[in-house]
Amino acid sequence: MNSENAKSPPDAVAEFGAPPWVGPWPTESHFDPELLEAGDRRNVADRYRYWRLDAIVADLDSRRHTFHVAIENWQHDFNIGSVVRTANAFLAKEVHIIGNRRWNRRGAMVTDRYQHIRHHETVEGFAEWARGEGLAIIGIDNLPGSVPLETYALPKATVLVFGQESVGLSDAMRDAADATLAIGQYGSTRSINAGAAAAIAMHSWVRQHADVDAGHEAHPQGT
Ligand SMILES: C[S@@+](CC[C@H](N)C(=O)[O-])C[C@H]1O[C@@H](n2cnc3c(N)ncnc32)[C@H](O)[C@@H]1O
Repeated sequence: MNSENAKSPPDAVAEFGAPPWVGPWPTESHFDPELLEAGDRRNVADRYRYWRLDAIVADLDSRRHTFHVAIENWQHDFNIGSVVRTANAFLAKEVHIIGNRRWNRRGAMVTDRYQHIRHHETVEGFAEWARGEGLAIIGIDNLPGSVPLETYALPKATVLVFGQESVGLSDAMRDAADATLAIGQYGSTRSINAGAAAAIAMHSWVRQHADVDAGHEAHPQGT
């Protein structure tokens, strides 16, 4: 099956539906005849309506950003789906899962199909890979010694690394990181959830390095 139609819940159908194509069918090869015939109910931006999955991924690949995201997964962290969805929205190069290979895809809203996801068994293996790619490893956690994310000049080529609920970044990851950054908080909770922290950190990179106009042109007003 090359569309997500069968898996879309009814409310998502109402929210994301595009009807069967009316009129002469477009001939460009990126269009998917099944979607043109049945309609496209996937969670994709309007510019990708009726496109084949591989054509969408190829187009994203042609303009991905230079930041990566990574999350430690020693206890099947439930935030990973949300991290993947946000990584897709902000066009991260890749998402890295460190530890357990299995993760809960629910929060990803099938965005994982459009995202390159790489698994690393160990922190050491991950760090070796990142160094080989010339990426700065930036831990994101509010630990003693962390410096404020808000005023930090994020490297353009970087991997932003998040920890798990309750335990946070592992000691091995803290050692591997070139810097560890905290998001300032003002209330009583010790921390925010990793999915929210990931969204803030990715958007910080976007504010420093991405083409802001392009982000709004690609998704004008809610598309
Ligand atoms: C729920 S936190 C757990 C650890 C946290 N250090 C604590 O003391 O509770 C899970 C992950 O979310 C991210 N996170 C949560 N709040 C953060 C903050 N204020 N600054 C940076 N990262 C944060 C980090 O990646 C962290 O590893």
